[in-house]
Amino acid sequence: TKLDMEMAAIEKGGYDHFMLKEIFEQPQTIFDCLRGRLDAEQGHVVLSGIQKYATQISEAHRIIIIACGTSWHAGLLAEYIIEELCRIPVEVEYASEFRYRNPIVHKGDVIMAISQSGETADTLVAIEKAKEQGAIILGIVNVVGSSIARLSHTGVYTHAGPEIGVASTKAFTAQLAVIMMIALVIGKEKGTLSHDKYLQLIRELAEVPEKVKLILQQNDSIKALAEKYKDATDALYLGRGYNFPIALEGALKLKEISYIHAEGYPAAEMKHGPIALVTETLPVVFVATKDSYHEKVISNMQEIKARKGKIIAIITEGDLVSPTLADDVVILPPADEIIAPLLSTIPMQLLAYHIGVAKGYDVDKPRNLAKSVTVE
Ligand code: G6P
Repeated sequence: TKLDMEMAAIEKGGYDHFMLKEIFEQPQTIFDCLRGRLDAEQGHVVLSGIQKYATQISEAHRIIIIACGTSWHAGLLAEYIIEELCRIPVEVEYASEFRYRNPIVHKGDVIMAISQSGETADTLVAIEKAKEQGAIILGIVNVVGSSIARLSHTGVYTHAGPEIGVASTKAFTAQLAVIMMIALVIGKEKGTLSHDKYLQLIRELAEVPEKVKLILQQNDSIKALAEKYKDATDALYLGRGYNFPIALEGALKLKEISYIHAEGYPAAEMKHGPIALVTETLPVVFVATKDSYHEKVISNMQEIKARKGKIIAIITEGDLVSPTLADDVVILPPADEIIAPLLSTIPMQLLAYHIGVAKGYDVDKPRNLAKSVTVE
C-alpha cells in the first residue's frame, strides 16, 4: 500500500536502499562499537564482556573460529590479526563443515563464534557441540539476546544496530572493530604486544570513523566506476595478507548484489589458475593498500597488466606506483596494515551496490538469499 511505501521510505532515512543507508552509517556504527571500550586519550581498551575470561583466553592453546558467509571473512582476518598480535594458533572453520566432521576440541580451547544475526543454524549447532566438549565459547554477535549470544560463555556485541540489507555491510565492519579490540586486549594480557604498538593501534582505531567518512565522500566517483564495469561477466578480487580476506569479501559482495561471477584469491595464488581467465575484458580489483606486502602486490599488478586485464586498485594516498599500472584507482587515507581492512572494505561495498543498482536489481533483497539462515 501507499502507507507501507511511505513507511519504508522513512525507515531508509532518505537513502534509496537500506544497503546504501547501512554503508553510510558506518562512521557512526564503528564509533558506537568502539565507544565505552576504546579510550584513545587514556590509551586502553576494556571489553567488560570478556574481562572475566581474558586470562583463560590468553592461555588457550588454540582458538577455533566458526562462522558462515561474511562473518567467516571477518573470522579469516581475525586469524591473521590474532596470530600476529597474540601468538595463539588460530583455525577458521565454516560452521557447516565443522559441525558435520568429527572435529578435535580440547577442554579449554576457545571457540570464537562470529554471527551478525546470532541465529545461523550451522553456527549455532557447531558451537553447541564444541561446548559439550569443554570449549570456552566467545560470541561476536550483533543481535542482542540472540541464540548464539545466549549460548556463549562470554562475548562482545558489535553494536551495529539492526541490519536490514541482506548483504552484510555495517555488521562486517563492526565485527572487524571488535576483533581488533579483542586482539589488543589478549595481546596485552599475554605480553605478546608491545606497549607502543598497543597505543599506536588504539590511536589508529579511534581515527577510523573519520577516515571512513572521507572514503564515503568518494561515492560519486565509485558510482562512475560502477557504470564503467557493470557489464563485466566476471571479476577477480586479489589481495595479500590482511587484505586477502577483504578481497574475498569484496568478491562476495559483488556476487550477492550484482550477480556477476566474482572470485577472491590471494594475489600470489592467481598464477595457479585464475590468471588463465585474464583478458582485456576482465576487471581485476586489487586491494593494494600500503603494507608489508605492497611490493609483492605491485608485481602481481604487473602480471595482470601484461595480460591486458583491467585493473581497479584500492590504494593508499601517496602511492605513486599503482596509478601507473591501474586503469582506475580509489585512494584511501593511510592506516596501519592491521587497521587498513576497515577502510579498504568500504569502496568494495559501494562498488557492488552501484553495480547492482545500475543493473536494476533489488539490492536489499538479492534473489535466493536470506538475511539469516536458520535452516541447514
Ligand atoms: C546469510 C547472509 C549473509 C551472512 C551469513 C551469515 O548468508 O545473507 O550476509 O554473512 O548468512 O550470517 P550471520 O548472521 O551468522 O552472520
